[in-house]
Amino acid sequence: MVDIDRLVRPHLLDVKTYRSVDPPEVLAQRAGIPTDRIVKLNGNENPFGPSPRAAEAVARVPLHVYPDPLQRSIRESLGVYTGMDPKHLIAGAGADELIDLVFRLFISPGDRIVDCDPTFAMYSFLARVSDAEIAMVPRDELFDVDINAIQDSLDNRTKLIFITSPNNPTGNLTGESQVLELLKTGLIVVVDEAYFEFCGQTVAGLVRDHENLVVLRTMSKWAGLAGLRFGYGIMSARVVKHLMDIKSPYNINVAAEAAARASLEDAPALLENVSKIVAGRDRLFDALEGMPGVTPWPSYGNFILCQMAPGTATQVYEGLASLGVFVRMFDSARLVDCFRVAVGTPDESDAFLTALRGLV
Ligand SMILES: Cc1ncc(COP(=O)(O)O)c(C=O)c1O
Repeated sequence: MVDIDRLVRPHLLDVKTYRSVDPPEVLAQRAGIPTDRIVKLNGNENPFGPSPRAAEAVARVPLHVYPDPLQRSIRESLGVYTGMDPKHLIAGAGADELIDLVFRLFISPGDRIVDCDPTFAMYSFLARVSDAEIAMVPRDELFDVDINAIQDSLDNRTKLIFITSPNNPTGNLTGESQVLELLKTGLIVVVDEAYFEFCGQTVAGLVRDHENLVVLRTMSKWAGLAGLRFGYGIMSARVVKHLMDIKSPYNINVAAEAAARASLEDAPALLENVSKIVAGRDRLFDALEGMPGVTPWPSYGNFILCQMAPGTATQVYEGLASLGVFVRMFDSARLVDCFRVAVGTPDESDAFLTALRGLV
């Protein structure tokens, strides 16, 4: 017998993995409920699904030819949508792949990243995979990033600073002036704008003057393409070049590329769905605010963080799951009394609210 573990990189032997969400059929089986009856609000997915034009484009695409490794046509389309020159754009198999590529480009074992707890768990996960150290800088009591504490945490091994705006799962924004402060460090500042369309606030324009800014976006949320995996980054031409050089050549599959292009062409219709989600978010917030034992945090994303009475969150989470309503809990110590709920269709939000009312 070969001892495989002897060959595995030591820091990966027992690496703490990413806690991901299970697919609908697994959740349904767990709850003992048919898949079409569950209410899946744990992945911040788009309840209205993709553009019909995206599905048509996928059906038409020739599957036997490799995609364009330089992503020429889709970068042109992204350029029209973002108003940026395609030299500033690169696409990835989800924003997740671009985060991974940023680690590969900048991080050697022992380098450091700055992460602002509580936030999206992918940055600390990939730091662990890359054998990087994590300077975990807590957000303040309103979940704002603490710029002074970030500056104090830097040392000569620090390479990357991750900022998520709107932040997942807390829903709040980071302002442009704060990002500009961080850019002065000369380190790579990654601003993850996965939920940009739900708030309209961006720092993308700053990439023209700041070579160290990397803005990440996704089509998983506003365009309903989470299953196809398509994200993109906006950054200096120099960083685009380096990422292009190291990415796997055919990282965007032809179906994802065709769906992304069709979605960008159908952006006005998809942005109407975004408006519906934003209206649904505000309605959900108001309903939650009126409930005893629940404090919703204001959100600029397509989700709401619910702060529960101390010690009740896990019980409520499990109660919801047993009724086929799935929300998300987190590892962060700051969020032990919280869960996050995505904004669903009006019917889904109502089902969630009805189930929750019976549990609090
Ligand atoms: C802040 C943030 N960044 C990135 C992602 C991942 O996006 P993608 O589906 O494009 O990989 C998510 C998904 O939930 C997210 O919340």
